Amino acid sequence: MIIAVDGPTASGKGTIARALADRFGLPHLDTGLLYRATGRQVFLDGGDPDDPADALAATGFPEALLADPHLRTEETGGLASRVSIHPVVREALFQRQRAFATQPGGAVLDGRDIGTVIAPDAQVKLFVTASVDARADRRWKEMRDRGITVSLEEIAANLRRRDERDMQRKDAPLLAAPDALVIDTSALGREAAIAAAIEAVESVA
Ligand code: C5P
Repeated sequence: MIIAVDGPTASGKGTIARALADRFGLPHLDTGLLYRATGRQVFLDGGDPDDPADALAATGFPEALLADPHLRTEETGGLASRVSIHPVVREALFQRQRAFATQPGGAVLDGRDIGTVIAPDAQVKLFVTASVDARADRRWKEMRDRGITVSLEEIAANLRRRDERDMQRKDAPLLAAPDALVIDTSALGREAAIAAAIEAVESVA
């Protein structure tokens, strides 16, 4: 069984994807990490994230980079969003995601285009979303707990910028698949959101 979990930054899609993987004993891939590693690698190379050739070269990042805490920063998130615009970058990362999705026994993948491009054949498609305010608030608390001080306004502005870029791009924009179940987590606690997702999976299994 393939479970596709898409949605914007800080919507709770990662939490839901991990919980589903745990619950159903499936391997999980956070595909945002691949774009983050690519963005980080462009920076390390001194390249230009807006240049398709520089961004494509960076998709050859070393595996060890996937475990680098720098991948979690807002700066790297912004770089990821810029490199992810280029079709050549998306193509270069496609096969790895597709192979993960189609491994025997199934998998859970979260990202922006899992239900639309990587695994349109997924048995379960969830689109996890939340208001900008709810997402900014979550991200702010997450950063505070990690000892990083940034203003709520700055985070909200960043989220808006990233949403707009992810939704406006021509290739594989952030968009709910027509057959996706939308889970709005704005007013849902963690456990309620996870329960809704589990119910969705059980209804097709
Ligand atoms: O989910 P996360 O915030 O880690 O993703 C970082 C960026 O990578 C997103 O803003 C998006 O531009 C890009 N991305 C993508 N397709 C995916 C996953 C992430 O374009 N499947």
